[in-house]
Amino acid sequence: CGIVGVTGNDNAVKILLDGLQKLEYRGYDSAGIYVNDQSGEDYLVKEKGRISELKREVGPSVHGSTGIGHTRWATHGVVSVDNAHPQVSQDGRFYLVHNGVIDNFQEIKSEYLSDVPFTSQTDTEVVVQLIDKIATEENLNAHDAFIKALQLLHGSSYAFLLMDKQEPDTLFVAKNKSPLLVGVGDGFNVVCSDALAMLRETHDFLELVDGEVVTIKPDGIKIEDAAGNVVQRDTFHVDMDADETDKGTYPFYMLKEIDEQPNVMRRLAQVYLSETGAPVVNDALLASMKKADRIYIVGAGTSYHAGLVGKRLFENLTQTPTEVHISSEFAYEQPILSEKPFFIFLSQSGETADSREVLVNVNAAGHESLTITNVQNSTLSREATYTMLLHAGPEIAVASTKAYTAQIALQAILAKALGEADKQIVAQRFDIRQQLGLVATGIQAIVDEKDKIEALVKQSFLKTPNAFYIGRGLDWGVSLEAALKLKEISYVQAEGFASGELKHGTIALIEEGTPVIGIITQSKTAGLTRSNLQETMARGAKIITIVSENLAKDSDDIVLADVDELMTPLISVVPTQLLAYYTSLLKGLDVDRPRNLAKSVTVE
Ligand code: G6P
Repeated sequence: CGIVGVTGNDNAVKILLDGLQKLEYRGYDSAGIYVNDQSGEDYLVKEKGRISELKREVGPSVHGSTGIGHTRWATHGVVSVDNAHPQVSQDGRFYLVHNGVIDNFQEIKSEYLSDVPFTSQTDTEVVVQLIDKIATEENLNAHDAFIKALQLLHGSSYAFLLMDKQEPDTLFVAKNKSPLLVGVGDGFNVVCSDALAMLRETHDFLELVDGEVVTIKPDGIKIEDAAGNVVQRDTFHVDMDADETDKGTYPFYMLKEIDEQPNVMRRLAQVYLSETGAPVVNDALLASMKKADRIYIVGAGTSYHAGLVGKRLFENLTQTPTEVHISSEFAYEQPILSEKPFFIFLSQSGETADSREVLVNVNAAGHESLTITNVQNSTLSREATYTMLLHAGPEIAVASTKAYTAQIALQAILAKALGEADKQIVAQRFDIRQQLGLVATGIQAIVDEKDKIEALVKQSFLKTPNAFYIGRGLDWGVSLEAALKLKEISYVQAEGFASGELKHGTIALIEEGTPVIGIITQSKTAGLTRSNLQETMARGAKIITIVSENLAKDSDDIVLADVDELMTPLISVVPTQLLAYYTSLLKGLDVDRPRNLAKSVTVE
């Protein structure tokens, strides 16, 4: 879910609505705002669906200088106006928006609120009713009632933003596990779950730490830690242009982000390579990794898939055994660790709760870690020992594209640096600068041939209920990502499969016309994957091939520029991103905001 707040600005309604629009990637099943104009007028507007629908609902009379807003990704309770936030207490005094999950909300409800009528099924309403009850019964102000209520939420995850009608210029904030920032404006202040939402208002932000409670007025911000001590903290500057978050002339962010990939490759080379092409990586990080006897890569979704490629890079260039894990699994089924483990967290947003849960355990055990992320000062970045930024620019489309390729490229740079520091011959011979250059040109060639991919989609993808991507080794890893992309935005049931394994069961699903896309970039297994494709063709499959130039035949559909075989995923994934994009587009779906998903999932 996305949260915004502002106090002390007569443009509050616009700031909230524009901020919510920027946060739509965090969820978009319903949204709402509450604003107060400090002279007795206040407004609560909530709507099902997208922010554009909320905007339509907010008429010209709605105005104010202090307010809060929320865009929801449902956890407790169906999608409805009643369940949308802000949630309000029964006497209309308190308004609350929330991101996270209150584990013990049922217990609180039956223990303290059995006499209170509820209008929603949310855990959030339980909290706002609880605050009101405590304030009324114990005659406490909002601040004290809020803190008392928080103490009853044992270990739950939350980012809360609360308003009390009796103190109309004040925002009360509390955070535990879920992300939240305070932005410092000129004569006003803002709150948001991601700096992106408020870049038009300020570039200076205060990070918040778990357990803190913050009281925000137009001219002052007071941070208190869990023990009630006042905390002083400097702001950090977010060096990003608000225009970078616009989609320009593109119909969808996803297409813009696919097209940006050659530039992202060049930018990474600029940032992380010296003039001679040698990697420039923090010495302390390299020293720490050199001590490790095993690398553990942890991530979710697309980031996990980038880790599958990272494993091969680290093992080939550094000879360090490397494991890749899905964060939500690793958090609760931790494998036996080696003696000197080193952890790499891959996360575009730096906020994924599943990954953060692992990092908390890793920190508690005293292990060192690196977060590779696109978001400066994100939770995973702050809490890991080291951070490397992806410099991919904001990724807004829910389906991740340029963050995947940036994560792979950055892992390649790091593996090269580590291997070289360890005098590994393979790493010494690996010309990372040349490779990134070839990759950039190779991706460019694919994005320049979009028509060809659109034509393939028209022929084979629009009517099919299912599809298979197959490959071996790194090509299998890319198949998993390719299938995820297609599922996410076009709702085609897709599977990425190890091509040799298909015949052991899954081939039963192949029917007349089922698309089977073979990815072939590894010379060792190219012939085998071709045979596996033939096996599916004999059973009626419609075959599409994505093949590196040196392994290609005249009949192949998409031919990729040659690069080192360790780097092929950076190019081979691009046609699969475009296949997913055009399938979604031509089916008339919302490419950037597919149903049921959120880009940054801050609940476990
Ligand atoms: C969500 C998104 C995925 C993303 C995953 C991990 O589920 O919908 O696209 O890959 O989270 O996100 P992260 O920000 O940690 O890379």
